[in-house]
Formats: sequence, C-alpha cells, structure tokens
Amino acid sequence: MIKIAPSILAADFSKLGEEVRSAENAGADYIHVDVMDGHFVPNITFGPLAVKAIRPETALPLDVHLMIEHPDQYIPDFAKAGADIISVHEEACPHLHRTIQLIKSHGVKAGVVINPHTPVSAIESIIPDVDLVLLMTVNPGFGGQSFIESVLPKIRDVKAFAELHQCEIDIEVDGGVNQDTARRCIEAGANVLVAGSAVFGQADRKRAVEDIRN
Ligand code: DX5
Ligand code: ZN
Repeated sequence: MIKIAPSILAADFSKLGEEVRSAENAGADYIHVDVMDGHFVPNITFGPLAVKAIRPETALPLDVHLMIEHPDQYIPDFAKAGADIISVHEEACPHLHRTIQLIKSHGVKAGVVINPHTPVSAIESIIPDVDLVLLMTVNPGFGGQSFIESVLPKIRDVKAFAELHQCEIDIEVDGGVNQDTARRCIEAGANVLVAGSAVFGQADRKRAVEDIRN
C-alpha cells in the first residue's frame, strides 16, 4: 500500500488550512511538515505553533520532519502540538537511541532520516527501534530540487535489512519525487512518498496525487 505525503513546504503559507484540506480532499495519506532551523539546514520554516494551527484542519496524520539541531529540546512541543510521526536526522543526533525513545515516550511514531551522503550502515542498529526510515533523495533545505539517483540502492538496502530482521517499518523518500521518480522509488522498496512541488505546484491536486500513486 503506497502512501502519499504532500509537503506543505510547497503550499501557499497565507492559507495553510485551506491547502491542507485540499491535500486531504485530493486523497493524500499524510501531511508532511518540514521543520527547518537555519542551522542544520540553510532555511527556516515552521515551529510547533504552526503544527498546532494546522492540526484541527485535517484528520490526516501529521508527518513532522525535523531538520533541526538539538531536536530533543523541541520534541515534546511538537508532540503536544499534534504531530503523529516525528522524524529526526541521524546527522543531528549524537544520542540517537535516546532521541528515538523520547519521541516514543510521547506516544508518537518515531522516524530516523539520513541525508543522501550518509550510508545506511549509520542507522542499521536503530532500525529495529523505529517505525519509519526516511531516505532523503535531495540535500534537505529546499523544495523543488532534482532527485539524486544514487539513493535508489540505499532504499533497497533498507528494505533488505528490514526484511532480514523482520522489522515492520515504513520506508519513506523525500525530495524530487514526481510521477517518474516515484515509480523507481516504489520498485526499490519505498512505500511512503513525500511530494512538495509535484502536488502543491499543480492546479489539480487530486490528479497530482493519483499520478504519483499510480
Ligand atoms: C526538503 C524537504 C522536502 C521538500 C520536498 O528539505 O524535506 O520535504 O519539501 O519538496 P519537493 O517534492 O519539491 O522536492
Ligand atoms: Zn521533508
């Protein structure tokens, strides 16, 4: 079952409630929220208050992608604001196991993310503890970038590891996902596809979601 997670990074910020509802009506499965701090990545976006504001606008799970340093400081706030899934970058977490346990202690699903240059071996030991592995298919920070092909074998490696160790995880990809790259990600083993511009950049969002899913 393939899930589509439109990223509100590509939405119109002046009407986020409406944008989130349009993604839900279009058949999206999650709403992906890109949180950037201007330190871990060279851009600044939303905080817990924005998550709290969109929470009542949709029944869909809020998939919160933290691209921030010191995520432990903010995880409780994002959980209280209504996040359903919180994912942290391996590169930002010196005590990754503790951070994953912190997310879970709030009753929220926990994900781990790696940048395109980070090897899968960096997260293998944590995979049995997470609900989701997110593989960045662009360098995080901005929407609308080109898909990095060399991540495809990493998707296969995560899938193979999860099968071998019988881990029930979602495998998510994020960055440059469109109709064409979505197919290759699914073939490699991904089952959750984040799409920013490929959904919110299109006038017909329903068609955009269907095109990516099919
Ligand atoms: C990149 C973000 C992505 C971004 C994807 O740092 O994590 O979620 O919004 O945007 P597109 O789909 O336009 O590449
Ligand atoms: Zn993201």
